[in-house]
Amino acid sequence: MFYEKEKPFPSDFLWGASTSAYQVEGAWDEDGKSPSIIDQYEHPKEYADFKVASDHYHRYKEDIRLFAELGLKAYRFSIAWTRILPMGTGPVNPAGIRHYEDVMDECRKYNIEPIVTMYHFDLPYCLEEKGGWGSRETIEAFVEYAKVLFEQFGKKVKYWLTINEQNTMILHPGAIGLPKGGKLPSKKELYQQNHHLMLAQARVMKLCHELCPDSKIGPALNLAAMYPETCNPKDAIAAHNWEVLRCWNFADVPVFGWYHPLAWQYLLDRGLAPKVEEGDKEILKGARPDLIAMNYYSTAAIAASRGDALDVSARAGDQQIMLGETGVYRAADNPYVEKTKYGWVIDPSGFRYTLRKVYERYHLPVLITENGIGAPDVLEDGQVHDDYRIDFIGQHLKALRLAITDGVEVIGYCPWAALDVVSTHQGYKKRYGFIYVDRDEFDLKEMKRMKKDSFYWYQKVIEENGAGL
Ligand code: BG6
Repeated sequence: MFYEKEKPFPSDFLWGASTSAYQVEGAWDEDGKSPSIIDQYEHPKEYADFKVASDHYHRYKEDIRLFAELGLKAYRFSIAWTRILPMGTGPVNPAGIRHYEDVMDECRKYNIEPIVTMYHFDLPYCLEEKGGWGSRETIEAFVEYAKVLFEQFGKKVKYWLTINEQNTMILHPGAIGLPKGGKLPSKKELYQQNHHLMLAQARVMKLCHELCPDSKIGPALNLAAMYPETCNPKDAIAAHNWEVLRCWNFADVPVFGWYHPLAWQYLLDRGLAPKVEEGDKEILKGARPDLIAMNYYSTAAIAASRGDALDVSARAGDQQIMLGETGVYRAADNPYVEKTKYGWVIDPSGFRYTLRKVYERYHLPVLITENGIGAPDVLEDGQVHDDYRIDFIGQHLKALRLAITDGVEVIGYCPWAALDVVSTHQGYKKRYGFIYVDRDEFDLKEMKRMKKDSFYWYQKVIEENGAGL
């Protein structure tokens, strides 16, 4: 739809940027922190590990000062459970509390709103050893951890995000790392874990509303619309199948209190449905988020399954992310979009389209918690000319403004990433930040921070509240 006049970004729009604890902090075993699954899992050897990352744990003051110079109104980061409760439950680690209090105070000093993700892939390893998300005890542990967070930081944090990309954890667990021995859980086990995550999330949302009535809380999911490869109705059904299984099934449970009907039928039919205990339905129905946090990177084109070996393929040659399922859908190519150097589809209009779908389905404010382009940035004479990032984010912001004009309530935009971080499974060469961190895959150098061209560009966007886009 074209408009004579587009709506401006709201005056209190949360212009932000994101990171996650394990990808940016480093200090993996300092000040009482215990190992998380990320620290113990196997990761591809050709890439950097997460032990030092961008050393944000030690340099957060310098980093937040740079965020202030960038003009950020919000900083989305995650808290490492392993710093707060090193044993997963039980004794609270005062050094962990102090660290995040300092980070929040430092943000507030510059009027930057801290947006806190409670869980970004990094389960305490000691809980994993007791069964991880496959065990109902982990639900209790998460509620205990959340209670500590709400009690300690409730006055400092207005926006809480429960779990980052639960759909990635369940659908593409290999992207987060391989458990020792290299064996991933079965699909059946994963959907049981998913059910436990849903219960944990519902209990924590309810607890947040009781303990921090002025705060807002919601899930952070990776959401993306799916296009049928052709107007063949069979392709349309397949695209819908995957959109439901990939996206709506994960957002329907927190919002409506039960699984998407099509997804539930799929789970029953394939013997993948989780064991639901007495009282679970009440727990799921008893909580509702205040917002939907959305990570958006790219869409996909989908064709009907042909029932042959080619139904399943690796996304952009990345063996950790397999797409397609016989009898459900098959990944296809979209000739109308460009791709990043890592083969990810670049689709700003798909951003608008996804936002429309999210809002018409849930009628909840949307906070963009990730969006960005991973690229092998090049440092030349202390400068990084990342015009591709300026172009990518600029196009997505224009699409976002159109979505706002369409009537979608979007309260903020926190692209990935505030500064360079270690990618989930593709190391340090694949960079996302506005601030370059001078280290290589294995040579840590001095980790000097340098402003990329996109830094100055985003600074201006924020200064003008997006008017110049
Ligand atoms: C999201 C995650 O899936 O995408 C981030 O929440 C991640 O943790 C980001 O870094 C980009 O993916 P990748 O694999 O390129 O790091």
